[in-house]
Amino acid sequence: MSNYHIKHLEEYYQVYRKSVREPENFWGEVAEEHFMWRKKWDNVLSWDFNTPEVKWFQGAQLNITENCIDRHLLTRGDKTALIFEPNNPEEAAQHITYRQLHARVCQLANVLKDQGVKKGDRVCIYLPMIPELSIALLACARIGAIHSVIFAGFSSTALSTRINDSDCKLVITSDGSYRGSKSIDLKAIVDEGLEDCPGVETVLVVKRTNTAVTMKEGRDKWLQPLLDKAYQDCVPEIMDAEDPLFILYTSGSTGKPKGMVHTTGGYMVYTGYTFKNVFQYTENDVYWCTADIGWITGHSYIVYGPLANGATTLMFEGVPSYPDYSRFWEIVEKHKVNQFYTAPTAIRALAKQNISFAEKHDLSSLKVLGSVGEPINEEAWHWYNDVIGKKKSPIVDTWWQTETGGIMITPIPFVTPTKPTYATLPFVGIQPALLDEKGVELKGNQVEGRLCIKFPWPGMARTIWGNHERYKDTYFSAFPGMYFSGDGALRDEVGYYRITGRVDDVIIVSGHNLGTAPIEDAINEHPAVAESAIVGFPHDIKGNALYGFVILKESGESRMHDNLRKEINQIITEHIGPIAKLDKIQFTSGLPKTRSGKIMRRILRKIASKDMSNMGDTSTLLNPEIVDVIKDSAL
Ligand code: WTA
Repeated sequence: MSNYHIKHLEEYYQVYRKSVREPENFWGEVAEEHFMWRKKWDNVLSWDFNTPEVKWFQGAQLNITENCIDRHLLTRGDKTALIFEPNNPEEAAQHITYRQLHARVCQLANVLKDQGVKKGDRVCIYLPMIPELSIALLACARIGAIHSVIFAGFSSTALSTRINDSDCKLVITSDGSYRGSKSIDLKAIVDEGLEDCPGVETVLVVKRTNTAVTMKEGRDKWLQPLLDKAYQDCVPEIMDAEDPLFILYTSGSTGKPKGMVHTTGGYMVYTGYTFKNVFQYTENDVYWCTADIGWITGHSYIVYGPLANGATTLMFEGVPSYPDYSRFWEIVEKHKVNQFYTAPTAIRALAKQNISFAEKHDLSSLKVLGSVGEPINEEAWHWYNDVIGKKKSPIVDTWWQTETGGIMITPIPFVTPTKPTYATLPFVGIQPALLDEKGVELKGNQVEGRLCIKFPWPGMARTIWGNHERYKDTYFSAFPGMYFSGDGALRDEVGYYRITGRVDDVIIVSGHNLGTAPIEDAINEHPAVAESAIVGFPHDIKGNALYGFVILKESGESRMHDNLRKEINQIITEHIGPIAKLDKIQFTSGLPKTRSGKIMRRILRKIASKDMSNMGDTSTLLNPEIVDVIKDSAL
């Protein structure tokens, strides 16, 4: 018997040991006892981190939507699968039962088929947080199409780059989206993006805001009339365990975004099993993750993980500050939320507000609090623990990545004693290692190094879409034989892990991963700009904010600088989206560079963080004199 639901610390250690000593038996049992397969696997795992190639449950066949929907119909048909809480609190919430979800997913799946979408085709989903978004993911999975969800805050350029990279032939979008008091014309953004996407044949449009849109003849279709005509049943496409389920883009330190490819069987088992344990979900609980489905957290822990367990999962269309800063707590009270999963940036923003916003609501339904996306600082951790959790609801600080598919290092609530700012212990099946810069593994406790994983787990991404070489270079080359996360971590005296942050050029702003290279490329498009470098600096709500050092082609007059700053942020908004805007822009005559021409970002980071005391070794710089020049005019 597998221990699907871990309830004591001893049990955790026992299950963990088994998962490490006999990984194939362990995962084979979890997969067999708790999921539905059309055909069993020939082989639980085959792997080689050098090629790299990883296959889980090879030879098995399944459809993930049968696991997430159909198998619950007999026992949970009338149970709410999805609660939709709209942006406007005056608009009624929707409760969609498993039976209704089944019908709606099948209808959309049939519409997609009618539009010519086949197994293996890529479908781009660019939607706000409305039920159609979850339904669209599942409808693709139903027919074996590969979904590529693009966060609806991305610009038209970011959208078209991603659509072209994975050759999507169909896009699902909406007329517009609501975000707090604003509405955004999503369809107009799609129209602009598609000017550069000749491969897109069809655009299906959901009506949400009733804003006027332009419909291109032959390409654009309103979705609802097509759904109305579609059958409410659709035979699931039988997939191989290693068939791709979705592509999701994440930023890299260099180059264009990476389309991480997740496959079907392993991802399902891993998200399902982690969801059950990390949130200690029990049958009648209401679970709410505030992430957007445009990110991995939403894929794994709003849609697939909860539904695989027959859970009730809430999705919220709006923002924490609308109509005011009590909105999250109002929703917790209204829907009697039991598990609440959010990001440190939201916690910090909410903790800054008057405490009455939280205190006026009954939060007694809460049992487990989760945090994800960036390190949680001590102050935010205590506020979350004391004010929201009333010291009764354990905080699960969950470390993981788009690439890992599911949670990797985390406490199990009521099982693992928590410690502020620590993600604590590896989840079952996860074998972390800390390495020094030379690649030597640091054994024992009280060490700090680069966080790697030594052994495959079922939820890991298998490749980067269209670029397996880059997958190898990025994750398996720095420390041969291991997966390198790009994060630093320390292990304390009892073996608990604390994530210290990125060790590469990815900067996490408000929980969003941003690569420096695409932002710099955007800035360099400005006709007045010669060169630029972006670094992060600490920000009390966003975690990190962006600081740009910009060299102008002609130094110009300083009264022009404010205009230039606006224009630079405008270009960034157009190329990537408002999330990548710079908080500070310093114009400079040069950047510190090594003899090989590499910008020494370490120095820029210190200046941006106002940590000017010791600049470290600058002897390898080609132009050491520039350091003082930049320091003197730091913002
Ligand atoms: C960071 C989000 C500290 C980390 C699921 C990682 C964290 C990146 C934590 C992945 C955490 C995520 N503590 N840092 N609990 N969770 N991170 O791909 O730097 O959007 O590499 O996946 O977020 O971000 P991604």
